[in-house]
Amino acid sequence: MPQDRQDAGGAGQAASVPTAAGFDEGFAAIAASPGIRRVWQAVDPDLPPEIEPFSFVSVALLGHVANALALAPGQTLVDLGCGRGGPGLWLAQSQDVSLIGVDFSPVAAQHAGDRAALFGLADTAHFVVGDLAATGLPDAAADAVVSIDALHLAPDLAAAAREVLRILRPGHRLVLTSWQPRTPEDARLPSRLRIDWTTALRSVGLVDVQVESRVEWHDLFTRVYQVALDLGGPDEDVALARLQDEARRHLPIAELVDRVVVTATRPNGGVAAGPAG
Ligand SMILES: C[S@@+](CC[C@H](N)C(=O)[O-])C[C@H]1O[C@@H](n2cnc3c(N)ncnc32)[C@H](O)[C@@H]1O
Repeated sequence: MPQDRQDAGGAGQAASVPTAAGFDEGFAAIAASPGIRRVWQAVDPDLPPEIEPFSFVSVALLGHVANALALAPGQTLVDLGCGRGGPGLWLAQSQDVSLIGVDFSPVAAQHAGDRAALFGLADTAHFVVGDLAATGLPDAAADAVVSIDALHLAPDLAAAAREVLRILRPGHRLVLTSWQPRTPEDARLPSRLRIDWTTALRSVGLVDVQVESRVEWHDLFTRVYQVALDLGGPDEDVALARLQDEARRHLPIAELVDRVVVTATRPNGGVAAGPAG
């Protein structure tokens, strides 16, 4: 959904599979968009402008994610579906850790690498082109994995969750932001908004899965849409036009979902895929 500019499916329709080329276009447009910057200034004036999220995050939500990651200084954070890097770079800076960002969009990875210096992380942040389900990273490379509004876009969610399990160190955490239906299996929603995160993550062997939703997180993403529509235009601003289209499709179904932060842990010892956890 949100910032999922390729979600052609409306309520109850099958959504198209996101492509790197589609996101490449979106990232080029957003980098040149004064409208998107105005949206963020209005929605969360406290959000450091260099974050330039392609997602629905406030500085308060990022602070919550930072705490949940339970990182120690000097460790390594992996950001899956990192986009142009801002949220992951802010997290890495605030937690004093190294960062590896992974995204299938070469434009995103390039922009993220170029922008690392804005956060003072030119030497400790690296960005690679890779898939959510095939990052190319070594086993147990991550002291924590974060994914901001990206994991639900994986065409094969189980494969992406297995990849998270593989790259996490035993005993360490995944924290993701996404959406979950208020009514299980709600047929009015596109399939990627019908995910039951507890079941999906436990089924690959992640444990201690916690799904938290807060009204203020939900309000933030509907406010982004409302502010984008209120700006009018969009004149030549392609990214604002796309956000306004998305708002018209998604505001009518926004009350069918909760905005969630999901945490899960790779167990110590062997991984037994199944319902336990
Ligand atoms: C909504 S954006 C979020 C970007 C970033 N996390 C942020 O908060 O600004 C989703 C991101 O997931 C990436 N993505 C989607 N499907 C992917 C896949 N199969 N493999 C790797 N990246 C993917 C997109 O290129 C995009 O950068």
